[in-house]
Amino acid sequence: MKVVYFTVTGQTRRFVKKLAVSDPYEIDGIDPEHEVNEPFVLIVPSYSDPAITEPVDEFLSYGTNSKNLKGIVGNGNRNFAELFIITAKELAHKYQKPIIYAFEFNGTPRDVENFRKAVKKLES
Ligand SMILES: Cc1cc2nc3c(=O)[nH]c(=O)nc-3n(C[C@H](O)[C@H](O)[C@H](O)COP(=O)(O)O)c2cc1C
Repeated sequence: MKVVYFTVTGQTRRFVKKLAVSDPYEIDGIDPEHEVNEPFVLIVPSYSDPAITEPVDEFLSYGTNSKNLKGIVGNGNRNFAELFIITAKELAHKYQKPIIYAFEFNGTPRDVENFRKAVKKLES
């Protein structure tokens, strides 16, 4: 399944590099209106200020993107306590899609393994 992600400080991009998937798509913060046209999982970092992740919402509401969104993976920092992966949670609620995994920063080898398992489960 295709991987689509957003990043502000580069942690999510570093995680995606570790996944070694073919042709991941990074949502453009300036020009988010891009149609993916195939099923995908979204990996999204969390920011307490929703303005920071607004391009992700714009991307999802564009064309057929929300229809092709199969699952959401939250990236965040557990120090944010109840706000951990808040952006992923808000998008999951808005678009009625499942959160299939959560991790911190750029992810550990175990996160990479768990991500792959979660995507396989989604595909089965
Ligand atoms: C200003 C700021 C606000 C943040 N707010 C949250 C938050 O509400 N919840 C959370 O889980 N992580 C929060 N984080 C942590 C980031 O989501 C985390 O560092 C993530 O790995 C960043 O990914 P990125 O580099 O791909 O943007 C925040 C980080 C910053 C700098």
